[in-house]
Amino acid sequence: MEIRVVQGNIAQFESDCIVVNLFEGVSAPGGATGAVDQALGGAITRLIASGDFTGKAESTALLYTDDKIPAARVLLVGLGQAEKLDRHGVRRAAAVAAKTLAKTGGVENYATIVHGAGIAGLDTAQASQSVAEGTLLAVYQATQYKREQKAVGLSSCTVVEFSQDKLDEVTAGVKRGEAIARAVHTTRDLVSEPPNVLFPVELAARARQMAEEVGLKSTVLGEAAMREMGMNILLAVSKGSANEAQFLILEHAPAGHEDEQPLVLAGKGITFDTGGISLKAGAEMWRMKNDMGGAGAVIGAMEAIGRLNLPRRVIGVAACVENMPDGLAFRPADIVTGMTGKTAEIISTDAEGRLVLADALAYVARFNPSAVVDLATLTGAVGIALGKVRGGLFSNNEALQNALLAASEASGEKLWPFPMDEEYVEAIKSDMAEVKNSGGRGGGLSSSAKFLEHFTEGYPWAHLDIANMVWSDMEKGAEIPKGATGYGVRLLVELASAI
Ligand code: BES
Ligand code: MN
Ligand code: ZN
Repeated sequence: MEIRVVQGNIAQFESDCIVVNLFEGVSAPGGATGAVDQALGGAITRLIASGDFTGKAESTALLYTDDKIPAARVLLVGLGQAEKLDRHGVRRAAAVAAKTLAKTGGVENYATIVHGAGIAGLDTAQASQSVAEGTLLAVYQATQYKREQKAVGLSSCTVVEFSQDKLDEVTAGVKRGEAIARAVHTTRDLVSEPPNVLFPVELAARARQMAEEVGLKSTVLGEAAMREMGMNILLAVSKGSANEAQFLILEHAPAGHEDEQPLVLAGKGITFDTGGISLKAGAEMWRMKNDMGGAGAVIGAMEAIGRLNLPRRVIGVAACVENMPDGLAFRPADIVTGMTGKTAEIISTDAEGRLVLADALAYVARFNPSAVVDLATLTGAVGIALGKVRGGLFSNNEALQNALLAASEASGEKLWPFPMDEEYVEAIKSDMAEVKNSGGRGGGLSSSAKFLEHFTEGYPWAHLDIANMVWSDMEKGAEIPKGATGYGVRLLVELASAI
C-alpha cells in the first residue's frame, strides 16, 4: 500500500473514504471532523446524539455521504479521552482505521487527517509518523504460502493536512513512519519464513539483498572464515547442522561519520532451535523458527536506519546458525574456546543463543563501539517474568540502559530492566572451564546475561531478551497482527536516532 501527503481540506477530498476522528465526550465536533459534519448536514452530530458513537478509543463508525462531499464514505475513529492521547494512541487509531477499511470491500483508496496534532497538541511530526506506522503495520499479511490470496484491497492512503505551515513536518513524519513500518514488515517476513526456507545462508542472502537496495555495506563470513578467526564457540552450535553458519555484518556509515565510534547492534540468528542433543520437547518446537527474531530485528532496524540516512555510524551483526542434533553435533560437557581465548563448558546444547552471541560480542570489539546492544530470543524465563508485555533489559552501563528505556517509551516497544549484580556470576562458574553456559533455574535470567557480559570487551553493552516479544499467538492491537510482531525495529531506530 502506498502512503502520500497532500495539502488540502479533507472535507473536499475525493476518495473512497475519508477518515476523521472524535474524542470521547465531545458532542459538537470541531476541526476537520466539524467541517465534514457540517458538509453532511450534521450527520456526525446526530450519530453522537444517538449514543451509537461515543469516541471511545479504537471504536469506529462508517457513514455514507450521499454525494454531499466528494468522498463516498466517512470513517469516524474514536481517540478516547483527549488528555490521554499520545503517539501510541495515534498509531493505534490509524491502525484501527486501516484494518476496518481493509475489511470494507469497496474501499481501495482513502484519505486521513493526522490524528492528535490538533487540540490534543501532539507534536505534528511525531503524530504523522504514528499515522504512517499504524496504517502500514495494520495491513501486514504473511500469506505467501497460501495459493488463494486474501488480498488487502487497499492501495493507497493519502494524509491530508489543511495547514500549509505544517506540511513539511507532516511529510517528514510520514516518511519516517513509512521507512520504519516497511522495515518492520521486512522483519516480520523473515521471522515468518519456515526454517526449511530460511536457513542461515538464505537469511544472510536476504539481508545482503536488502543492504544493496538501501545502500548499506555488507559482509558475510562463512564457516571457514569464522574458523580462521577462532569463533569456535559459535561454530560448536553449528556442528550438528547440514546448513552452513553465516556471520552477517551490515554497516551504515554516512558521509562525514565514517570514522566515528559506531553503535553496534548484534542479533541472535538461530534459524531453527531444536535444542540440539539437549533436545527440546516436541509439541512447541515449531515455534523455534522465530529464534532468529533478534537477527531479524537487527536487519529490519538497519534497513530503516539506512533509508532514513540517520546521521550516525551504525553496524549491525547477526550470528546465523541452525541448532540441530546429529552424530557430529556438539554435546553437553564439551568445552569450547572462542575468539577471545575464553573457554566455556557446555551444560546444555539448548542454551545455544548465548554461545553464538559470545563470539559475536567478541568480534564487534574490533569496531571500537560507542555501545553494543544485543537482541536475542534467549530464554523461556523472560516470558514467565514479563509475559508478552515488555522485553527484558540487562546492561552494565547506566547511560545506555537509560537511553534504551527512553527509546522503549518513545517507540512503544517496551522493556523492563533486570539486575546485573556480580553475585549472579557464581551460577555460571564452571569446575572445568572459565564459564558454563547454564546456571540453572534460580536467577537464570541474570546469569544468562552475565554469561554474555563475560564475552564483552570493555565497551558499554546492553542485552535485550526478546524471546517473549517476537511472536504472538493473537493480535496485539490493530498494528500488531497474530504471528511475527517485528518487535525491536521501532525501538532500535529510536535508540539510533537518540544516542
Ligand atoms: N530459543 C530458546 C529460548 C526460547 C524458549 C524462546 C521459549 C522462546 C520460547 C533458547 O535457546 C533456549 O532454549 N533457552 C533455554 C535455556 C536453558 C537451557 C538454560 C531455556 O530458556 O529453556
Ligand atoms: Mn535453545
Ligand atoms: Zn534458542
